[in-house]
Amino acid sequence: MDDARELSRRTALALGGSGALGGALILAGCAPAEDASGAGTPSETGSDSGDTGSTPTDAAGEDVAALADIPVGGSISATIGGEPVLLSQPSAGEVVAFSAICTHQGCTVAPEGAALICPCHGSTFDPATGDVEQGPALEPLPSVPVSVDGDRVIAG
Ligand code: FES
Repeated sequence: MDDARELSRRTALALGGSGALGGALILAGCAPAEDASGAGTPSETGSDSGDTGSTPTDAAGEDVAALADIPVGGSISATIGGEPVLLSQPSAGEVVAFSAICTHQGCTVAPEGAALICPCHGSTFDPATGDVEQGPALEPLPSVPVSVDGDRVIAG
């Protein structure tokens, strides 16, 4: 019965570790914008499994950018809920947003010309869809909900 007890202890440790990490991620998502001391560094979310679709939904309604600041056919970097995002305007008045956290190892992807490029290992992503154009990343950038309200881009 020692095996069963050991398995139970391991399960509890695994669940406890997962819970602690989940709590940290929730806290990070709720952090105020002025506490952005870790901005620009690789995110700890790169090694998480099954959490690539999360979005800072508690930031709904946040004024993200001026529509005029996003070039038609291009992209800009911004933040929503303190998290780095990429805003693209594939056609005039249509704005899409993606997490800027690279799905390879968590570096911050940036706009470069008409492309979205990860500076760490060179993955490129489609600015209109977030799909991988060139690896090593295998997964697309997660979509982040935004809407256009007049001349502003709003989270949610
Ligand atoms: Fe982006 Fe490796 S972390 S390509």
